[in-house]
Amino acid sequence: MSMAQATVSLGGLRKSYRVGESSVEALKGVSLAVAAGEMVALTGPSGSGKSTLLNLCGLIDTPDAGSRELCGKVLDGLDEIRLTQLRREKVGFIFQGFNLVPVMTAYDNVEYPLLLLGVALEERRRRVAEALHRVGLDALARRLPDALSGGQRQRVAIARALIKAPALVIADEPTANLDSATARQIVDLLHELARERSASVVVATHDERMSSHCDRVLHLIDGELQ
Ligand SMILES: Nc1ncnc2c1ncn2[C@@H]1O[C@H](COP(=O)(O)OP(=O)(O)O)[C@@H](O)[C@H]1O
Ligand SMILES: [Mg+2]
Repeated sequence: MSMAQATVSLGGLRKSYRVGESSVEALKGVSLAVAAGEMVALTGPSGSGKSTLLNLCGLIDTPDAGSRELCGKVLDGLDEIRLTQLRREKVGFIFQGFNLVPVMTAYDNVEYPLLLLGVALEERRRRVAEALHRVGLDALARRLPDALSGGQRQRVAIARALIKAPALVIADEPTANLDSATARQIVDLLHELARERSASVVVATHDERMSSHCDRVLHLIDGELQ
């Protein structure tokens, strides 16, 4: 795959964490390109570097070495402000622990990314209603996260991740806290939405049901792709 076709291209990424006097080498030169509309599963044992790779891929963190491109734009050397702006425009996140804002309703959680992007009120209303409808939560829009089940919370998080039609969706073990029937619904929903919107999806998972839905399954061991 050429760099130009890929939504995201990562070349030779390295990342270490400082722990007291020593450091942990979490990624040891990882290269990966994900095409538009492609859904890639990232598997591997706990501690193998999956979350680190997702954080670099989704512009949450910066590599020690290596190169990154997102939507044809070279990221190396960009300052924090530009990276934050790109992240808000282009990347949607779904986490294991849902990461909803507890004092905000389902509606407000889903609307929030559009507020950050400065989208006008009428358009926000239309898009949030549509997104909540798409994940089957119209009736629960005014509930706080505490009053929702795990599966419902993860559907709010999916609506929030996809509300801005991101080019890239990053999901870090999105079904880890869900029972298997609910996990199945979440997998199907993520898959359908990614296809409909031709978003590239990178999902870290231990879940066979998730990886069997993906276009490619990558295996990370000890900071290296196998
Ligand atoms: N913030 C951090 N500080 C120190 N070490 C970290 C930090 N985040 C991750 N690590 C270490 O980096 C390695 C990879 O972790 P991680 O990317 O979270 O793997 P995974 O998501 O596959 O479980 C592990 O050895 C982990 O302990
Ligand atoms: Mg992890």
